[in-house]
Amino acid sequence: MEKIHDILSDKFINSEVEIRGWVYRIRSSGKITFIILRDSSGIIQCVASSDNLNEDQMRELSSMTVESSMEVSGTVRKDDRAITGYELAIKSYKIYERNENFPITKDLGEEFLLDNRHLWIRSREFTSVLKIRSTVFKAFADFFYNNSYYQVQAPMFVSTATEGGSTLFTVDYFGEKVNLTQSSQFYLETLIYSLEKVFTIAPSFRAEKSRTRRHLAEYWHAEGEAAWYSNEDMMKDEEKLIEYIVNEVIKNNSEDLNIIGRDINVLKKIRAPFERIKYRDLIEMANKKFGMDLKYGDDLGADEEYNIMIHFDRPIFVTNYPEELKTFYHKPDPENPGEILCHDMLAPEGYGEVIGGGERIYDLNELLDRLKKNNLNPEDYYWYVDLRKYGSIPHSGFGLGLDRLVTWICGLKNIRDSIPYPRTVRRVKP
Ligand code: 4AD
Ligand code: MG
Repeated sequence: MEKIHDILSDKFINSEVEIRGWVYRIRSSGKITFIILRDSSGIIQCVASSDNLNEDQMRELSSMTVESSMEVSGTVRKDDRAITGYELAIKSYKIYERNENFPITKDLGEEFLLDNRHLWIRSREFTSVLKIRSTVFKAFADFFYNNSYYQVQAPMFVSTATEGGSTLFTVDYFGEKVNLTQSSQFYLETLIYSLEKVFTIAPSFRAEKSRTRRHLAEYWHAEGEAAWYSNEDMMKDEEKLIEYIVNEVIKNNSEDLNIIGRDINVLKKIRAPFERIKYRDLIEMANKKFGMDLKYGDDLGADEEYNIMIHFDRPIFVTNYPEELKTFYHKPDPENPGEILCHDMLAPEGYGEVIGGGERIYDLNELLDRLKKNNLNPEDYYWYVDLRKYGSIPHSGFGLGLDRLVTWICGLKNIRDSIPYPRTVRRVKP
């Protein structure tokens, strides 16, 4: 049994091959039937003609339907008119299942397609996005293994908030109210005292009502934490990481990028180092150069980041946000009062934030102070506080939204299309 992609080659001309998969398109003129078959690797035109097949077989093949499953054997020919340059002259075949009325057709409404996501994901474009997504997940892990990080796992049921209370999902846990995790960061911080450099890939949950094109209620969060790292050290790993991931996609998925219409030359520009811009300078740049109207202290949401990043063709780091804009664990910048040693990586072409990270407070009293300022009870965070009592060290970390990264790399309009089963404010099925 061959894979379709492998036989699209001059080497296979006149060879007998056997393939199996699903009917992608079908066209019949009575005398001749063209069945385009797809498998996970690609598509090929298969030709049924009376040269090789009897009348019953011809009739059966001409009535095949889209997304029916079958196996076909025959010989490969080159044909420039065929959709992928080669075709297969059918000699024999076997039908596994012949369906009636595959529900996904052209020009369907958004809601219908979302309800039928389990069938829609078979589309050629979606298949390519999923292949790119697969490369991104692998490349993320490979990069960190290659740089002496250990992969670890943190719980999803938690009793603390990492990123503030407003986006917590509460669930019943044997009669007790607990939360679904927003970030594995605090658990990663506990693990650097044994492993020094750690990473994890896990879902994070945010009860964000915002119906933007970049928010999911459940998303895939890739996080790293490193002992002895400064904010700058962390950014250095991150820019190399992004360069590496994009390169892996270019190397492994050029055909997929082509299928989804993503210009590979745009991605080839993604080379480290990325520009670092302080928040206050970015505000000034936005007002002076991009005609925006921002004040120091304004939070940058999806719209603001879009209007800024539309002017960039490579990612940037925004550092030194004002203390009030970020969560309590960020380390204040001793050189710039009121600012913190943190960074967001914003993706170009309007995409905006894909990474949030920075240096963590490691002084006990400083942390207790910040907890108090934020009206948080240190007792709820006793284990996080403990880390500042026993061998505390400088360290930094980050969180990367993998779905947002895939959205940008693929040039998609909506984060929903980067994941097979998006969870949004309005949808938890299928
Ligand atoms: O900026 P965030 O909230 O930072 C943290 O959670 C830190 N504790 C991470 C860390 O330092 N370990 O989230 C990190 C990233 C964002 O930059 C974004 O890419 C992604 O997670 N993200 C989302 N992606 C999709 N849907 C959402 N609702 C997201 N919220 C955050
Ligand atoms: Mg953030």
